[in-house]
Amino acid sequence: MKIRQLTPVLGAEAEGLDLTQPMSAAHIETIKQAFTDHGVLIVRGQELTPDQFIRFARCFGPDESYGSTLSEFLMPGHPEIISLSNMVENGKRLGVQDAGQYWHTDRSYVKQPAWSSMLYSRKIPHDEQGQPLGDTLFSSMIAALAALPAEEQERLEKLSVWHEYVFRFTKPNDSLPGVAHPLILRHPVSGARILYVNAGFTSHVLGISAAESEALLKRLYEHAARPEFVYRHKWRVGDVLMWDNYSTIHNAVGDYGPHQHRLMWRTTIKGFPLQHMAAAA
Ligand code: SIN
Repeated sequence: MKIRQLTPVLGAEAEGLDLTQPMSAAHIETIKQAFTDHGVLIVRGQELTPDQFIRFARCFGPDESYGSTLSEFLMPGHPEIISLSNMVENGKRLGVQDAGQYWHTDRSYVKQPAWSSMLYSRKIPHDEQGQPLGDTLFSSMIAALAALPAEEQERLEKLSVWHEYVFRFTKPNDSLPGVAHPLILRHPVSGARILYVNAGFTSHVLGISAAESEALLKRLYEHAARPEFVYRHKWRVGDVLMWDNYSTIHNAVGDYGPHQHRLMWRTTIKGFPLQHMAAAA
């Protein structure tokens, strides 16, 4: 197996892996290290059953349940997998439509957000020239933080932010009341410092006025989306892609129509308790 870095700040491809076969302990360690170092890890060209996809994901930890919010699209017999799709068959939607078409990180609105989410591409839309559509953008929140002036990092380190599911999805959900997280946290695995805000689920900064909070978040979101922090993944059928929900944010580009079919299987890996920078020092 070979690990090939894709951009200076984010993304790597693991070459020479066949995920239909169980992975050796040495390969699991190499992948974990590459994933920790690069935040997004891709294995191309796989033809997997649901069991093989789940077996690969479980090399990195137990699954994070999707709970009741999206249960309609869990795969029958394999509730660890949820389908994301714009496809409709016999009047029935095959998956969550338009999922994640805004900058966010998965499940930041719970106390212990998922470490990683993993997508396996089954159908990819194309334009008339055969170019793939429906790319996914990832941004490194380690690189975004490091690029802020030291005095600003020091100020941000003292702040906490509120993350809430209902901020994005208008239907209230009693089991997801929201949670405060530090604005800068230490990565639970690598110890790296991370800017932990996302336009999808961060509603406000605690302890400052609403106007100050809005202005600060707007500036941080614009900063985090700068091209030098971003890796843009152009999908091919058979890609397995895992991303780190602590050190990255992502955004699915919705540039395809209803007849340009996209189908992804997604599974999610359970997270760790989060530490405030001060507690971790
Ligand atoms: C997501 O946000 O989980 C979906 C990403 C994608 O489908 O590209």
